[in-house]
Amino acid sequence: MEKTVAVGFNEQFKEANETRCRYRVMKGTAGSGKSVNVAQDYIIKLQDPLYKGINLMVVRATEDSNQLSTFSELTGAIERFGLSSLWRVTTNPMRLKCKVTGNEIVFRGCNDTRAIERIKSVSFRQGKLCWIWIEEATEITSKAFDILDDRLRGILDNAHQYYQITLTFNPINAQHWIKHQLWDMNSPDIFTHSSTYLKNRWCDEAYKARMERRKLTDPEGYKVYGLGEWGNAGDNILSNYTIETVDKDITHYDAVLQSQDFGFTHANCILQVGYKDGDMYILKEIYEHDKYTNKLIEQATVEGFSKHILMYCDSAEPDRIAEWRNNGWRAYAVHKNPGSVAAQIDYLRGRKIHVDTACIGTAKEIQQWRWKRTSNGELTDEPLEVEDDAMAALRYATEPYRRKHRMRTMTKQSLGL
Ligand SMILES: Nc1ncnc2c1ncn2[C@@H]1O[C@H](COP(=O)(O)OP(=O)(O)OP(=O)(O)O)[C@@H](O)[C@H]1O
Ligand SMILES: [Mg+2]
Repeated sequence: MEKTVAVGFNEQFKEANETRCRYRVMKGTAGSGKSVNVAQDYIIKLQDPLYKGINLMVVRATEDSNQLSTFSELTGAIERFGLSSLWRVTTNPMRLKCKVTGNEIVFRGCNDTRAIERIKSVSFRQGKLCWIWIEEATEITSKAFDILDDRLRGILDNAHQYYQITLTFNPINAQHWIKHQLWDMNSPDIFTHSSTYLKNRWCDEAYKARMERRKLTDPEGYKVYGLGEWGNAGDNILSNYTIETVDKDITHYDAVLQSQDFGFTHANCILQVGYKDGDMYILKEIYEHDKYTNKLIEQATVEGFSKHILMYCDSAEPDRIAEWRNNGWRAYAVHKNPGSVAAQIDYLRGRKIHVDTACIGTAKEIQQWRWKRTSNGELTDEPLEVEDDAMAALRYATEPYRRKHRMRTMTKQSLGL
């Protein structure tokens, strides 16, 4: 059952697609073609009889986030190449199987214990797990990476088989573990690769023009997303955080509160925040686009947010606050006044912030939340207003302290604990 296919690859990925190094570390600007390239590369290889017996696990921070990204990139590649008849695609659970080789692709998350268990229990009807693709790899912890790395071991069946972990990402932060553990390592096991949208032959002029504008409005962001250079941590507003597994039992905290930044096209972010011995802990997060308030209320209830815990909300949307209140939630507007953002940030910079690994939106934003620069490159003391919805919710979570009132959060006593 042989079929010849004409496929389009960007020249800049040639070497990346050929390397057999154990680690294929691929940073790049936004729109450089990384995701499309890696998806195409896997589809072509996995249906090649040479690679029979090799299976692929695709990993993102959460399993669900594969659906609109890696899963659709891979199925899109199958369609573009006209290979639909050679692949069996299932959506629930997401799984792809090549009918020619029997090789399979499975999808996993890695940011909580249940997801890690699901990684450990991955099995295939035939062959071995040889390849792992970690998409948006800056979203995952180095601990999760080690667990994934551990999965690739044992004697392989033949010389064509090899173990490989591919990481694709934008280099958001020079302090990231990927930089010091992999990128800077200079080891024969590690293949590093940089790509740019300028060398993506499918990148249109409008996109290029948008990038040029970003150069002016957000020079530091342009460095990462336009030039593909490691982000400068000196511009970051917060560095006093860790991304780790956080205790979800609210009775273990001195106080717990909730906060919300409203959004629709922007993310709507709801956080549950615990305070203990002066440290802040982000226990839970809802980070959703295009969702109406009634749906968010349902989701918050299902996901263990509590009506009885005070929720500090963006004051710009009184109607939405009213809707939460009408549904029995203790939602209040934060007080905005000149200087309140600076005071909130001051508060946040003054303590340790522990972000649970499942709070992807917060983890992503906190690593790239940074100060604005003027057009001549000087740092200002104003935060840059891009992708800062979780950061707004985090600021609102400082409300009871900032206003120097008695902390109006939920104490154990008032919860009857
Ligand atoms: N080989 C290809 N064939 C056809 N179109 C492509 C190809 N590579 C890239 N493109 C086009 O370029 C766009 C950007 O590519 P892609 O999404 O892979 O970039 P990326 O590097 O993953 O970006 P980001 O860092 O933002 O995730 C795609 O949406 C697609 O339209
Ligand atoms: Mg991508």
